[in-house]
Amino acid sequence: MTNFSILLLLVLCALQSCFAASNPSNFIKSSCSTTQYPALCVESLSVYAAAIRQDPHQLVQTALSLALNRTESTKTFVAKCNKFRGLKPREYAALKDCAEEISDSVDRLSRSLKELKLCKVNGQDFAWHISNVETWVSSALTDESTCGDGFAGKALSGKIKDSIRGRMVNVAQVTSNALSLINQYAAKH
Ligand SMILES: *[C@@H]1O[C@H](CO)[C@@H](O)[C@H](O)[C@H]1NC(C)=O
Repeated sequence: MTNFSILLLLVLCALQSCFAASNPSNFIKSSCSTTQYPALCVESLSVYAAAIRQDPHQLVQTALSLALNRTESTKTFVAKCNKFRGLKPREYAALKDCAEEISDSVDRLSRSLKELKLCKVNGQDFAWHISNVETWVSSALTDESTCGDGFAGKALSGKIKDSIRGRMVNVAQVTSNALSLINQYAAKH
């Protein structure tokens, strides 16, 4: 590679992605500032800054889609743990409950994402659709917290407990952030 092409590459990189990733937009920062986990909120949404721009609907849609995707991958993980040999009956029972709660949570988040798309209207229809979204995302969060709590006690031990609990905490935080962005969007509309 010639010096010139290396220089060109550096300039292009500087103009595009290099800065985009490390420089979250002010819109994302200020929207995230009222959530319960602002650092996680900024970090997880900044990747999508180019698509979000300053569009409140796009922001909420991305946050909800992110929560759904992480919940889905945790669902897959819990399903795999269920097949693990040598689980104690109590561990097996906690995993089974958790699998059901996560599955409910995925359904609710997925329904919310569809409902959110109907919110691109004004007036009473907006209020109706967004209140459905708020209700369902809030129930999804309760399901996720219940699952996390099932792994918090002393009854279970070891790696499975730690890794499931860690994932549930992250999923619940991302969902909580999505919910507070949704509430913000509903209030400002
Ligand atoms: C979530 O997953 C879907 C399907 O794989 C994908 O299209 C979407 O971009 C993902 N959302 C985010 C916020 O990454």
